Amino acid sequence: RYRDTHAEEKMNPFAEQEAWEEHQIGKATLNYGSKNKKQASDDYQFVFEDQIDFIKASVMDGDKFDYDEMADSIEKSKAKSESEALQAERKKLPIYTYRDELLQAVQDHQVLVIVGETGSGKTTQIPQYLHEAGYTKHGMIACTQPRRVAAMSVAARVAHELGVKLGHEVGYSIRFEDCTSDKTILKYMTDGMLLREFLGEPDLASYSVVMVDEAHERTLSTDILFALVKDISRFRPDLKLLISSATLDAEKFSDYFDSAPIFKIPGRRYPVEIHFTKAPEADYLDAAIVTALQIHVTQPPGDILIFLTGQEEIETAEEILKHRTRGLGTKIAELIICPIYANLPTELQAKIFEPTPEGARKVVLATNIAETSLTIDGIKYVIDPGFVKMKSYNPKTGMESLLVSPISKASAMQRAGRSGRTGPGKCFRLYTAYNYQNDLDDNTVPEIQRTNLTNVVLTLKSLGIHDLLHFEFMDPPPAEALLKALELLFALSALNKLGELTKVGRRMAEFPLDPMLSKMIVVSEKYKCSEDIISIAAMLSIGNSIFYRPKDKQVHADNARLNFHTGNVGDHIALLKVYNSWKETNYSTQWCYENYIQVRSMKRARDIRDQLAGLLERVEIELTTNTNDLDAIKKSITSGFFPHSAKLQKSGAYRTLKHAQTVHIHPSSGLAQILPRWVVYHELVLTTKEYMRQITELKPEWLLEIAPHYYQQKDVEDTSSKKMPRGEGRAVQHRSTDN
Ligand code: CDP
Ligand code: MG
Repeated sequence: RYRDTHAEEKMNPFAEQEAWEEHQIGKATLNYGSKNKKQASDDYQFVFEDQIDFIKASVMDGDKFDYDEMADSIEKSKAKSESEALQAERKKLPIYTYRDELLQAVQDHQVLVIVGETGSGKTTQIPQYLHEAGYTKHGMIACTQPRRVAAMSVAARVAHELGVKLGHEVGYSIRFEDCTSDKTILKYMTDGMLLREFLGEPDLASYSVVMVDEAHERTLSTDILFALVKDISRFRPDLKLLISSATLDAEKFSDYFDSAPIFKIPGRRYPVEIHFTKAPEADYLDAAIVTALQIHVTQPPGDILIFLTGQEEIETAEEILKHRTRGLGTKIAELIICPIYANLPTELQAKIFEPTPEGARKVVLATNIAETSLTIDGIKYVIDPGFVKMKSYNPKTGMESLLVSPISKASAMQRAGRSGRTGPGKCFRLYTAYNYQNDLDDNTVPEIQRTNLTNVVLTLKSLGIHDLLHFEFMDPPPAEALLKALELLFALSALNKLGELTKVGRRMAEFPLDPMLSKMIVVSEKYKCSEDIISIAAMLSIGNSIFYRPKDKQVHADNARLNFHTGNVGDHIALLKVYNSWKETNYSTQWCYENYIQVRSMKRARDIRDQLAGLLERVEIELTTNTNDLDAIKKSITSGFFPHSAKLQKSGAYRTLKHAQTVHIHPSSGLAQILPRWVVYHELVLTTKEYMRQITELKPEWLLEIAPHYYQQKDVEDTSSKKMPRGEGRAVQHRSTDN
């Protein structure tokens, strides 16, 4: 019997303040004798001075963990061959006990909701059990994951367990990367990819089982999948549907799937001590690092997991941790730092699963991916700053932003639980008990209610689903957000006035991209620059990891980058120049090195570009290049991104044309010093200000030429007549009579 720490946590008597034990980690060991602090290295001093006080909120003394038994089992498995050991490991997972019962339930019911603690073996084992029971004889087993990294790493693990090559019997499919073959029977994929498979195969005929995993995450694609799989299950009685979730509120899933039975896998859980800070932390990143170091110097063996919000933050933390542990010398055990985030290169991902060497301690710096999607064995300490990067959407303006937001109580519980998987654990929350009780929501709002729906609406329309207001959403999106999506698709000419898919829309839906990018590509046919535009689209899809700036060579790196901006061509054309220059060197690594460009990102861009070229062929758009006519390329960009136009204000800031929002040029832009009067931007990022990233200058008359249904004369008029460059105002007047 194992304790449910969630229940305990709920019962935790917050009122009994006086009963709380004051707990200062670090005191005992950090107090080394009477040595003068100043004599210690800077790093030691740092640990001394930056102690963080925690309050232990509750101690749950549950079942004792049998260390002898564990030691014994490790010995035993060492003796066996690796594959035998792996098979033995499989049998130790909590789910194994219920294997036969589970298979029976799958046989008896078409739809089954499966609930089990993270790490109980749902993702890696269930598809294998089904395979062993013969379900792969007449089709593949699909298992969806909200995150690409999870899909890849889980597929790798299962291939390993089955002793097959990844991509053969076991494969994965994520956007722009298909690692499957004719042999594939177990297919791990992102939920977004399965959604796209409906476009080619509306009844998913190649699958015998669909497992919508991590259902509790309620990503946009998962929510849409719910409705689609429910629909096909009605006319495909042979299709088995598994909805699996790590949280207990499975009733909702069951209700939605016509009272499908819930199969509960009793979890294995050890007590977790929860500590809150006494006072709020001003800088959670620093607090997290200090706490990790305190744990490292004072606490018994066991790995540390820190939840951070994104790649940049993780890289910063990695750097600081490396710097601060450097001076610690041999007195302190080695600290192995393992980052994990969505864009982490595959070859580095395996590192987090490697067992920690004797005498060392691992600290995993992870995004929310480690909350439920990935299980890392050996974690004993969790540091939870209480934040997550989350999408938020304003349907009024159509603006979407990624904001660092407080997590929900449900998330906080999941995070804490990660420390008590293989033995008793500790969780250090970098917020106060008061914050937890009063400021955190109970549950995270499903993504469908806080995101831009343009892409999903286009997908549903291409699937022939027209009546979106009556679509069977588990939780419906705000009607305003649906309308906004329809409006934008109409503006992009993907839908006609009746809301029906147009030829342009049908072509756009072929591209697994944001509809604005797809429009930019489809329209490049008209401007005879499809080759150039797909290079730009591929480069944009990489995100901002193309250039790098080593600390000691920043000036060189900046100069190299500015080279591509000669002539103030704008960021899109600069990306094109980077791509083409690399291509001219025959994709040289040395060239990337000399220009401070990440070769890995470039290779990925080339892969994506190849796939986009294939899709162009599919929609019968000829590959043509038009680099002599930069205006043609810019017009293509504008045709996709005209809703993202902004105009310079006297203050030096910009104002978006449609919603009059104040925005700024991102300092990394090649146009940051130029401040063109009219610009079109790729995306907005909110940091200290609302910044436009990836910018191209545009001529206002283009807006009337390209989107006369969207902009009117008054939108593009230049009211402040001073400093008007190149008589643009007049050009606008001519245009207006044309239209
Ligand atoms: O899906 P669920 O959270 O229930 O568990 P799982 O992901 O199937 O994990 C079961 C076991 O496989 C855990 O002990 C993981 O540590 C292990 N695993 C692994 O070693 N490497 C992976 N890439 C994924 C899982
Ligand atoms: Mg899982």
